[in-house]
Amino acid sequence: MSDVRGGDGVRTAMTPLIKAIGLEKTFRTRGRDVAAVADVSLEVARGEALGIVGESGCGKTTTARMLLRLEDPSAGKIIFDGTDITTLRGAALLKFRAQAQLVFQNPFDALNPRFSIRRALAEPLNNFGVPIREHADRIDAVLHRVRLTPPAAWLDRRPHELSGGQLQRVVLARALIPGPTLIVADEPVSMLDVSVRAGILNLLREARDALGLAAVYISHDLALIRYVCERTMVMYLGQVVEEGPTKELIANPAHPYTRALVAAVPVPHVAQDRAQLPIRGSLSDAAAIGGCAFRGRCPHAMKICIELAPTLRTITPTRRVACHLEGTMS
Ligand SMILES: Nc1ncnc2c1ncn2[C@@H]1O[C@H](COP(=O)(O)OP(=O)(O)OP(=O)(O)O)[C@@H](O)[C@H]1O
Ligand SMILES: [Mg+2]
Repeated sequence: MSDVRGGDGVRTAMTPLIKAIGLEKTFRTRGRDVAAVADVSLEVARGEALGIVGESGCGKTTTARMLLRLEDPSAGKIIFDGTDITTLRGAALLKFRAQAQLVFQNPFDALNPRFSIRRALAEPLNNFGVPIREHADRIDAVLHRVRLTPPAAWLDRRPHELSGGQLQRVVLARALIPGPTLIVADEPVSMLDVSVRAGILNLLREARDALGLAAVYISHDLALIRYVCERTMVMYLGQVVEEGPTKELIANPAHPYTRALVAAVPVPHVAQDRAQLPIRGSLSDAAAIGGCAFRGRCPHAMKICIELAPTLRTITPTRRVACHLEGTMS
């Protein structure tokens, strides 16, 4: 399985490692359909980090789980490294799983409390069929990568002997040890003490740079996204409403929802438009049938916003926005 560690230091910025086209997911619960993801298309290249932001319930985690094939899309397609993986099963799906790893949000329940660190790290190697003779070296190397050194001092410890930050290093090591080319981190530091968050984010960035990984970060925290992601996608009610280079998007948001997000969240070193209306109302206010999903909360809503749902349009070569005001705001 050593071939799964692809792309050391190789940047192929133009070719996406993962590409999603028109992803949709509808859950049926208690006889009711919940459209968690209505229309998401995205691309991430090797060595690139894409941030996904948006308020609670907008479909970020569901999108991530579909990208990792932990959830089957209701519609749409996922292309990974040139192969359609939307309906992979069996051995091919297992091979994909080694290449596309999730960093769990909560280190306090991501690890089996009865397992030593050695066993926690050997488990994915066993699952992916890595020969036992390779385990010790791979475990040693990954513990160095997450700076739990010397590795011998950590191998026999159990989760309860570690701090939250140390546990999250083990969680990261577990994601890295199969040799993935894609890492998806869903709120990777939100459960951690503020003092250790930057350390974990820096480790993730170092691993990404050293191994040429593609990364998807999901967070409510625009400051975090700005720190780690070159490109950002803003979701609202299961749809992409804006996408572009993170710094441009934060400095000059094109969608009224992005504007509200930027205004509501303190982002260091970014001048904020305090006059902008804060986000108001709730998701259910906006669950309008037809028209723009954001119109009920939008300070700029026009007649056309009731009649027609805006589609995602390219406004500059690197930016896309779904808004009828598109291009008219500055
Ligand atoms: N397994 C499921 N069954 C039914 N509904 C679900 C399921 N998973 C998610 N949902 C619903 O889909 C919508 C999107 O959920 P999702 O977890 O993707 O949002 P999120 O953006 O990750 O939110 P948060 O920021 O709170 O983590 C929500 O309305 C949620 O209740
Ligand atoms: Mg979530």
